[in-house]
Amino acid sequence: MRLILNSPLDMHLHLRDGDMLQHVAKFSAKDFTGALIMPNLVPPITDIPSLLAYKERILDVMGCEQFTPYMSLFFKSDYKADFLERSRDYITAIKLYPSGVTTNSDGGVEQFDVKKLAPIFEAMSELNIPLCVHGETNGFVMDREKEFGAVYECLAVAFPKLTIIMEHITTRSSAELLKRYENLYATITLHHLLITLDDVAGGLLNPHLFCKPIAKRYEDRDALLELALNANKKVMFGSDSAPHPVSKKECCGCAAGIFSAPIALSALAELFEKHDKLTNLQAFVSDNARDIYKLTPIEKTVILEKKEWIVPATFGDVVPMFAKQTLKWQALSQK
Ligand code: NCD
Ligand code: ZN
Repeated sequence: MRLILNSPLDMHLHLRDGDMLQHVAKFSAKDFTGALIMPNLVPPITDIPSLLAYKERILDVMGCEQFTPYMSLFFKSDYKADFLERSRDYITAIKLYPSGVTTNSDGGVEQFDVKKLAPIFEAMSELNIPLCVHGETNGFVMDREKEFGAVYECLAVAFPKLTIIMEHITTRSSAELLKRYENLYATITLHHLLITLDDVAGGLLNPHLFCKPIAKRYEDRDALLELALNANKKVMFGSDSAPHPVSKKECCGCAAGIFSAPIALSALAELFEKHDKLTNLQAFVSDNARDIYKLTPIEKTVILEKKEWIVPATFGDVVPMFAKQTLKWQALSQK
């Protein structure tokens, strides 16, 4: 049995830089035609020369694979309208991180003062630059995303022409909020469709499933599943594949991030098949993103075959999601 996907897109991807970039980029390049590249390098990508140099480094490691890195800038509170205007042609989105909420977000927004930031959001609205947001407060870990809902509402109302992407949503409340405002959209990861906090910390602690936002309750996962499996037009796939070397995961002070790029499409096919929704996978992994971001990706056919394979224990220095486990679908080739 075969499944053909037309130009799959991963709208939230960490490719890192240097040796890690060299190592992980090929997995996304094989299975996807493009991805929205996160800007949380050290230092973050906040200007166009750095962004273009990073894009070149990504394209360099892609070799003959056909893959478009859709670039994003790291939101800074002092961006000016003329800078955004000059940047427009080079970027697909701007990613906003509240300061300190996740890996490499220290240079993010300190105080979320919507009034103060209004000129930036207005300029982005005018220029049709989508705003991607890591929507968490620094409150109690299970409530951070829910608490951030008030900020999303405020943004959605104050800037009705701004496309706002709620990144990697994890809660029922986000799923509901999304439906209430026309200009709110969301990415959903593979892992948040599969795991709950029980998988992370309910038994022996599993550092390889530790990520931000932390996986939540069963009812939250069900709400995300309902959106993704039915290919709701307001959601799209964003893996949030976030590789860290094993030494940073299997230690005290474990880094947040799940490396899912090599298994993402296989596991999504298995999940959608399990729920008898395989026909909706194309919309979730490509069509919805094209509509939301108004993208015309390069044509690339990815063939998935129903054929078991065992996920390696490690890829180099990185442990993937589903390490040593058997998956039912294999991504074969593309043309
Ligand atoms: C990401 C990373 O490692 O860069 N970590 C994560 O847990 N998801 C950052 C992020 O997207 O929050
Ligand atoms: Zn991320």
